[in-house]
This record gives sequence, structure tokens and C-alpha cells, in this order.
Amino acid sequence: MKLVPQPYKITKLTGFSSQNEIDLFENAPEFSEEEYELFISADRIIARASCDKGFYYAKKTMKQINLLYDKIPCVLIHDKPRFSYRGIMIDCARHMFSIPELKKMISVASDFKFNKLHWHLSDDQGFRLEIEGFPELTEKGSVRKCDEFINCKSDKEYSGYYTKKQIKEIIDFCKDNFIDVIPEFDMPGHQSALLHVFPEFTCTGGDVEVKTKQGIFKDIICAGNDEARKVLEKILDEICELFPYEYIHIGGDEVPKTNWKTCEKCQKIMAENSLSDENALQCFFINKMAEYLENKGKKCIVWNDCLKGEGLSKTLTVQQWQGTAKKTALAANGGQKIIMSHFGAYYVDYPYGMHPLSAAYSFEPRNFRGLNSDGKKNIIGVESPIWTEHINNEDRLEYMCFPRWFAVAETAWSEKQNKSFNDFYSVCGSLCEIYRKEGVNCAPESEWKKKSPLKRLTETIGFFLPKK
Ligand code: ACM
Ligand code: ZN
Repeated sequence: MKLVPQPYKITKLTGFSSQNEIDLFENAPEFSEEEYELFISADRIIARASCDKGFYYAKKTMKQINLLYDKIPCVLIHDKPRFSYRGIMIDCARHMFSIPELKKMISVASDFKFNKLHWHLSDDQGFRLEIEGFPELTEKGSVRKCDEFINCKSDKEYSGYYTKKQIKEIIDFCKDNFIDVIPEFDMPGHQSALLHVFPEFTCTGGDVEVKTKQGIFKDIICAGNDEARKVLEKILDEICELFPYEYIHIGGDEVPKTNWKTCEKCQKIMAENSLSDENALQCFFINKMAEYLENKGKKCIVWNDCLKGEGLSKTLTVQQWQGTAKKTALAANGGQKIIMSHFGAYYVDYPYGMHPLSAAYSFEPRNFRGLNSDGKKNIIGVESPIWTEHINNEDRLEYMCFPRWFAVAETAWSEKQNKSFNDFYSVCGSLCEIYRKEGVNCAPESEWKKKSPLKRLTETIGFFLPKK
């Protein structure tokens, strides 16, 4: 029997069941919290788990069996996840999506047993999270001068943000689906929207625009500005109050250090703390922010750019997205927890010809150079992001994610030896068909079957060319 994600163990029994719903929920105190057993016999369907999470996943499996199979075969399923961290990420800073749309995405993801929603809520192109202490952040920081990215020819503004009430609505919805919500407040780079409101927090103090183009921008938060740090902490206070989960993502990606190099305040911090270079200063800055959050009982995640410098605290979880994984392997071997979001496999905002379904499926998160057996244990899971510079509507959002997120789900949940791309592919069409009927715009097979090198090349070039 093929399911997605494939369960840990399926024992075939004889015959078919006359039932299609679980009719008995039994306590199994010996199971871990996401583990469950589903016993489908001719006349009964029994689920066993140690808590609601396990029963929830048993019900999700039962739902998929009903969707995929007309006659329900008798089986005994024993299931538990390979990874504790199984994430999707949605960028709502470049383009926002409605609350019903986000619920739709979350709902499909939960059917595939994802358990983390990383919600990217602020970036150079917009600040989208209501902060009561600083209403200008959304009044001014959510507005950019142009609603499209590539040519910026339109003079239509783009703006919007999520109120705390809306954020709570998503958190409650996720709670019902056993998904933790991890907000990202990216720093010290990718903060043009905040710096538009607080230009005095840059090293140079000049005006900063909310950006209308994709890119990496040199105006970043000054690492030696006490006022900036206090405001960031107040924003984090509100974020912590709103999001009740263990993790907060504090970014740390793509930080150009040009301004830090010539800033007196930044250089003073470096001298006082004997920091060898600006990359070490970034670690120092991030460690301080993380320490602040850890004192409030949170754990922090940062992008792997933070490993460029010396001294990143081991308490931080690192999300690997690009670059050689050499430093990531060393960090993992030394005890750092790692989430794998390999760009070529898991960045689903890129066209299927560039990041094919087979790559999303086949990527093995615990297999990279330099990783030893301790390091492997510290790879706690995977996450697939959708960045939205090029995605400004719901149909496109769904098209890019599905079925690639079905593929990622199988790596996140299923044991390596239980995976087979051919088996996955054999049900992928049916799954897309089923979800299309529920209104999800899954990409057609022509997108996700193997493409010719020429087609892949043209899609790759097309992605980087300006759009008309
Ligand atoms: C990233 O894609 N800049 C994390
Ligand atoms: Zn500075």
C-alpha cells in the first residue's frame, strides 16, 4: 500500500474492511507523541496512540486511505516520523496572502504531516505584522511604491499587514492541526521596511525606502546602536507574547557588511569584544538577540549565513539553505541543531524545470560532506520555503508548492529505506487530482515529469529575465 508520506511499517492482512472510519481510539502509553498504530480489520478500525497528536496523524492516514482506495485493504500500520521538525515557509512580506488562503495551504500541509509553519513576516519590501508599540512599522513600513517587482513601472502602491487578531486566527487554526507557527523577524539585514521608519538605526542615518525590487541591500541595522537594540527587543517582546511556541526565527541571511566596516559604533563593539571581523560581529549581534529571547524561554533559528563568522552560540538552530555545507557539518558535529532547506531541492518558488519534483523528493538531509554520526543526529528536520517576489496570487502559490511539498513531506516523515520516487510518482497524479477537486491548484504532470535539458535551461533563463 502506497501512502504519502509512507508509514514506518505496513503489515498486509487478508481481505478488505467493511468500515472506513476509526471506531475505537485506544491509549498506547508506550508510544512517543506523534507515533500511532492503525489496525484495519474486516469489521473494525482501531487507532492507538499516547496522545492527541498521534490520534491526529492516525486520522490523517485514514483520510488518505479513503481518498486513494475505493476498497480499503486490511492492514496494520505502525507509524512514527523520522524527523521532529517538518516545516513549510511562506513569505508574506513580498506578497501577502489572505487568511483563508493561508488556512488552505496549512490544511493541505497538515494532511501530509508537516508540523511547522515558518511565517516570513517582514523584509525589505514590507513589514506585515502589527506591533502595537510601534504602529508606524505597519502604517509606513508596509507600503511600497510599486505593486510589481521586476520593472516597477506601475505607480500602484502595494501595502497591507496582518493584525494581531488575524495572526491569532492563524495560530489557532495551526494549533488545531498540530502545527507550530514560527514567526521570522529577520535581522540585521532585510530590514529596509523597518529602517524606512527608523533611518537613524542604520550606520549612516540616511533615508531608506521600502524596496520595490528584489535584492540584497546595504542598509542594515547598525550593530552598535543601543537605541536600535532596545526597539528590536520591544518588537520581540510583542512577538513572543503573540506566538506561544518554542521557536522564533531571527534571520541573519544576506547581510552586506560595507557600512559596518566604516561605522565608528560598530567598530567600537568589535574592538571592545575582540571580534576578528564583521562576520564575527554578526555572530555577536545575533547571539545577543538570541540571549534576550532565551531569557524569555524561547529558542532561536537563524539562516546558515550566520556560520560565516566565529562564535555563533551553540544554542541556536541553524537553517541551511545555500553555500557549502562544510561549516554546517562542523557545527552539527559540535552539537548545533540544523534544519535542512537545500536551495536546489526545497526552494519551490523556482520553476519546476529548475528545481524539479525529483530533486524535492530525492534530497537526503543527512548526507553531506563532513557530517559524522553525531552530526547526523543533530539534523533535526527539513523545511521547504516559498519566497514570493515572483508570486503574487493564490493560484501561483499553490501551483509552485504542490506537488513539490508532497515530495518534501515524505522525506520529512518517512524512513529513507521506505522511500521510492517511482512509488511516490505512481500516486502523485491521484493526489493532485484529489486536491484539485478540493480547489487546490496543483501543477499538472507536464510540469513535474522529467524535463529535457533544453526545457530546463529555458525555464532557468526565463526565471531571471525581467518580466514584461
Ligand atoms: C534566503 O533565501 N535568503 C534565506
Ligand atoms: Zn554601525
